[in-house]
Amino acid sequence: MGGYVSKSDKDPERVEQVHFNKERMLGKGGFGKVHAVVKKVGHDKGKWYAMKTLDKKILRKSNLLKEIKNEFELLKDCGNFLFTCNLFYCFQDDTAVYFVLDLALGGDMRYHLLKSKGRKFSESLTKFYIAQLILALEHMHSLNCLHRDIKPDNLLVQANGYIKLTDFGLGRKLLPNVSKGSCNEFGGTPGYMAPELYQKNHAHNNTAEWFSVGVLSHELLLSVRPYAEAVYKSVATTRVRRSTRTVRVESVAKSGKQDSTGSTKRVRVTESELLAMQPTVMTSDELKEALEGKEISKKAVSFLCKTLVKEPTKRLGWGTEKADPLKNHGWFEGFAWKQVMEQTFPVEYIPDTTEANVDCDDNELMDFLEHQSTRLTRSNSVINVDEFGALWFNYRDQEKSSSSSSRVNSPKT
Ligand SMILES: Nc1ncnc2c1ncn2[C@@H]1O[C@H](COP(=O)(O)OP(=O)(O)O)[C@@H](O)[C@H]1O
Ligand SMILES: [Mg+2]
Repeated sequence: MGGYVSKSDKDPERVEQVHFNKERMLGKGGFGKVHAVVKKVGHDKGKWYAMKTLDKKILRKSNLLKEIKNEFELLKDCGNFLFTCNLFYCFQDDTAVYFVLDLALGGDMRYHLLKSKGRKFSESLTKFYIAQLILALEHMHSLNCLHRDIKPDNLLVQANGYIKLTDFGLGRKLLPNVSKGSCNEFGGTPGYMAPELYQKNHAHNNTAEWFSVGVLSHELLLSVRPYAEAVYKSVATTRVRRSTRTVRVESVAKSGKQDSTGSTKRVRVTESELLAMQPTVMTSDELKEALEGKEISKKAVSFLCKTLVKEPTKRLGWGTEKADPLKNHGWFEGFAWKQVMEQTFPVEYIPDTTEANVDCDDNELMDFLEHQSTRLTRSNSVINVDEFGALWFNYRDQEKSSSSSSRVNSPKT
């Protein structure tokens, strides 16, 4: 690990936006767009990447510089793993901050979920995805980091059908031990967050992530999240940042029902609105009863009942930073973890990588962002680069950007 950081404008290896050709749009987030790009120069000329562009105007207006630096640090520390998204370069210009990442041409899991029959996956495909997510989180936890925003939008499907966890914007580094230590900052996406995050001091540790894994498993298996009603009545799907008390509405549910188009909008909420989003978590017995008759195995029901537990100390995975309690649960009995790690596991679903996975039309946010960046370019607005942190002014990870294994996602030519 460890990258190269240059502060000099004259560095011949300095990386800039003009060194990349934009091929197509892959997705959009709260602060900008993500594009598939091809490097035009340098030792990795011709290599495909994903470029996440974060509009400085939006970042400044929302007072999110700290969050973006945090995302950079976590990507740098945790990205070097099979199932997490690698950061290859980070740089900035007057208008934006750019993250150059592993390209996952299949798009995000939300897209595939919405497209799939019944808006759910088979139990075997769900298990394959959840297994990789568990491994990705175990990797992050071993580095004392929490992701804190587990949801289908942040899981990317690669061209080979395997997944990568991305979007570390709400992640936190905990010292010194992720299972003993505790984070007191509110943050995440209501609907996926563990109940302890809604408590007064918001104290949580890595076990909170296993609750989110339970929510995601429920959604992938049954097409809905377990506690939708309570959450969606008030504020739809929101992503909350404590510092600003601003939430990101990722999809506005018109009728109080779950609906996600992936579009993102930011709104402000009060403390009491935040508390109103707190889900009423069923007891294990109630959940078991609710799952009766559903087309999922008894072991899957048991996995859900053991992860979707209100009290963190009684939840599967409590007390250790390892993911062994989850990996050893009956649902994964006989599961070929080794094959998954070696990427030789028979893959059930290979995405069509030629399809656009994002609807660029009829989208207010995209118009807004498009307008913003045009305006910034035209007025030639100058923003002091130091304000965005000279330390990560021009980052490149030589080791990663030259590794051939990362070419796995490049489209066939
Ligand atoms: N490396 C990538 N490869 C392919 N698509 C990506 C990649 N990174 C992000 N995306 C797409 O862009 C969307 C927004 O990116 P994300 O990092 O989640 O931004 P935000 O922090 O604003 O939510 C994702 O949901 C996904 O659809
Ligand atoms: Mg995201």
